[in-house]
Amino acid sequence: MSGSLLVGNIGELVTNGAGEGPLGIRRNAAVLVEEGRVVWVGPSAYAPAADHHVDAGGAAVLPGFVDSHAHLVFAGDRAAEFAARMAGEPYTGGGIRTTVGATRAATDDELRVNVRRLRGEALRQGTTTMEIKSGYGLTVADEARSLRIAAETSPETTFLGAHVVPAEYADRPDDYVGLVCGPMLAAAAPYAKWIDVFCERGAFDVDHARAILACGQAAGLGVRLHANQLGPGPGVQLGVELDAASVDHCTHLSDADVAALADTAHSDGSGTRTVATLLPGAEFSTRSPYPDARRLLDAGVTVALATDCNPGSSYTSSMPFCVALAVREMRMTPAEAVWAATAGGARALRRDDVGVLTPGARADLVVLDAPSYLHLAYRPGVPLIRQVIRNGVPQ
Ligand code: NIG
Ligand code: FE
Repeated sequence: MSGSLLVGNIGELVTNGAGEGPLGIRRNAAVLVEEGRVVWVGPSAYAPAADHHVDAGGAAVLPGFVDSHAHLVFAGDRAAEFAARMAGEPYTGGGIRTTVGATRAATDDELRVNVRRLRGEALRQGTTTMEIKSGYGLTVADEARSLRIAAETSPETTFLGAHVVPAEYADRPDDYVGLVCGPMLAAAAPYAKWIDVFCERGAFDVDHARAILACGQAAGLGVRLHANQLGPGPGVQLGVELDAASVDHCTHLSDADVAALADTAHSDGSGTRTVATLLPGAEFSTRSPYPDARRLLDAGVTVALATDCNPGSSYTSSMPFCVALAVREMRMTPAEAVWAATAGGARALRRDDVGVLTPGARADLVVLDAPSYLHLAYRPGVPLIRQVIRNGVPQ
């Protein structure tokens, strides 16, 4: 779209910048957009002239959601595994190998169509930035193509060759770690911004995880980690040691884990350098206890919310659903949950151009079919996303 765009008549604008309360709320506001960026935020009554207009009709507007954790490159589904869990089976992560088989057997186009389908689904629910992981290929060629396809859709791509040890390496995990650090990383790195490891009993131990993440760092990738999902373990503290942007899941934390995260606090009071990303869709879909968000928030740890969209443990692409779960089940306030799903996700990706609606930010806006952001938790399951503007372009 050429020319400027004015989003006006906003009843409640969440800026995550200057304004009322932790969400930086402004009332009766307008946002002027030029060349994909926010260039002015102010009272609707004083809005400058523009070439194009969106009338929010008094509704709430917030930054597009930043979903910093999703596994979109896969084939098949595991609905039967979900049904078995709902009948009492535990979640162990063992089903990952089922998806690996289906993914390896899929064509590039089948994978591409699935990524686009899920990305479109998320966009319609207000997600304007979405991280996408590999991790269901687990061969050099399948990880490289997973990331190549992911990179067609998002710049936030993550190499997760260390998701599980694939069946053909089951009795020689050291060899698999060598493959991940060597040829697989070399083939994946051109398409990846981040490296991730599932550091958990049954997946990768702390020494393997450290070795793989260090190789990724040496290749120029940023570190993120699946940690402390299924039980207590060293993952969170390894993440802090390696200056991870985010440690994800954080369902089983010791006092020392929380303290280690809190110790990464920036000196200017702007939160922690390593973010705890909570994924309540996974606890919902595996019927597991939710992480203790209050404990993290009260310790000063920066918290993000993400979907973990994947065919096994959390097959949702809906950030509004995760916000509602975080409020109802994790005792986050609606303001904390909305911040975590927008600015928190941006921190987890070390981005300062998204998750906020302040001059200079990317013009990613969501117009709600509601007068307040509170409705995201108050009206769960209701399609409240009236309009999405991405990069200054109404979708
Ligand atoms: O984030 N924990 C590891 N990976 C995914 C689950 C993947 C799967 O079950 O397919 C997760 O929950
Ligand atoms: Fe995950």
